[in-house]
Amino acid sequence: MAGGWRGPAPPTLDAVPGFAHPAYPQPSPGQRGGRTVVEAVIDETRTRFVLPEERIPRAWYNIVADLPVPPAPVLHPGTGQPIGPADLAPLFPMALIGQEVSAEREIQIPEPVREAYRLYRPSPLVRARRLERLLDTPAHIYFKYEGGSPAGSHKPNTAIAQAFYNAEEGTKRIATETGAGQWGSALSFAAEIFGLKSKVYMVRASYDQKPYRRILMETYGAEVVPSPSNTTNYGRKVLAEHPDSPGSLGIAISEAVEDAATRDDTKYSLGSVLNHVLLHQTVIGQEAIEQMEMAGEDPDVIIACAGGGSNFAGLAFPFLGLTFRGGRRRRVMAVEPAAVPSITRGRYAYDFGDTGKLAPLVKMYTLGADFIPEPIHAGGLRYHGMAPLVSLLANHGDIEARAVHQREAFDAAITFARSEGILPAPESSHAIRAAIDEALEAKAEGRPRVILFNLSGHGHFDLTAYEKHLRGELEDYEYVPDEAALAALPAV
Ligand SMILES: Cc1ncc(COP(=O)(O)O)c(C=O)c1O
Repeated sequence: MAGGWRGPAPPTLDAVPGFAHPAYPQPSPGQRGGRTVVEAVIDETRTRFVLPEERIPRAWYNIVADLPVPPAPVLHPGTGQPIGPADLAPLFPMALIGQEVSAEREIQIPEPVREAYRLYRPSPLVRARRLERLLDTPAHIYFKYEGGSPAGSHKPNTAIAQAFYNAEEGTKRIATETGAGQWGSALSFAAEIFGLKSKVYMVRASYDQKPYRRILMETYGAEVVPSPSNTTNYGRKVLAEHPDSPGSLGIAISEAVEDAATRDDTKYSLGSVLNHVLLHQTVIGQEAIEQMEMAGEDPDVIIACAGGGSNFAGLAFPFLGLTFRGGRRRRVMAVEPAAVPSITRGRYAYDFGDTGKLAPLVKMYTLGADFIPEPIHAGGLRYHGMAPLVSLLANHGDIEARAVHQREAFDAAITFARSEGILPAPESSHAIRAAIDEALEAKAEGRPRVILFNLSGHGHFDLTAYEKHLRGELEDYEYVPDEAALAALPAV
């Protein structure tokens, strides 16, 4: 059932008949994006660049194989020593643990996962011509649209893979956290298609703001509780100290980890941050490389919002891989909320991935595991840290980061909705803000610029936030460093 991916080395992609994969060959003069380009003619006739189902990538791209600097080891939260597969086994199936530590450039996508991807992949690349006209910019703006997946975002790209490997190794039930509800929806849906039960700890602030996301998860078959909840020891502890806690992803992760660690039938699933989650998202960038070639263009700047870093990595890593293997250097930008600015204002240090300090220690940009973000509407960006791989690249200067406030993000979202018609998720709107600003900068300079951003999800369940913004009732939150949370960073 696993499509042979764990057996002997999988065939290279180029060996698959009719499938010369674009992402991996070494670029050389006369090539763009890794493929030989006969004529680079900009296609001015098309708005949507759509690939057939056969072009769904056959392997995920693992950037670890091409990193300019090696990643820091993951440490045990109790001993501070590097962890091994056995330490992670109570939480994850072995296949995912293998991917977490893999340095193979290509990891073959099992056929049942590709088959489920067919429900919505390849996702379209769209040239935002109406937005360009509205802004009167010489820039060309492209977006990769992940909001057309069943759950409404990029999250099913990894939820489907995680549910598949769990089902294959005999897991009966999955526990997870969700911020915005996008990840919880994706996992509930994926669990159902592979016959697993699911329990979702939904951050209280989102649980209250977004009842319809909860109903969607319940419709897919999940059990959903607000976090902090009274169904775990850690949740009860937080509630005893802070009965009105709005919750945070860090707290919800602790609850889901505790749930999985204390039940034999249950494993834990994380929607971002970890290497294997970022890996699964690379289908986005691999498709985008091919679609940008169809458009006859090469992006000068690649932009995505970053909560835990997975949609950013999904779009950016395959392009960065081309650069690391000798190709053109492009600007690559992660956009985070100014209220939770882990990359732009956090410390690059070892920290816990969760507030309860049950999860392993990873080296990342962090605001401190005890930091409780303000209740901004981009619930999926309310995380104290950033994926170790994204943090490493930011620290090494391979990518840039920018922080934007929620009101400027919503302004951009409304401009986008009024020109392109799609109502973006509040998280994705952070990327749109940056894309629009890049286009306006190009206009001010009177020079063209090719901009590619990831529209990671739709905002159909975020209408309360839109309504508040339209009425002028949203507020921006300045980040105030939580000195106690920073002082509590473990000494490693
Ligand atoms: C639509 C959307 N975009 C982005 C994110 C941020 O997560 P990540 O940084 O892992 O892509 C989320 C998280 O829930 C989301 O729902």
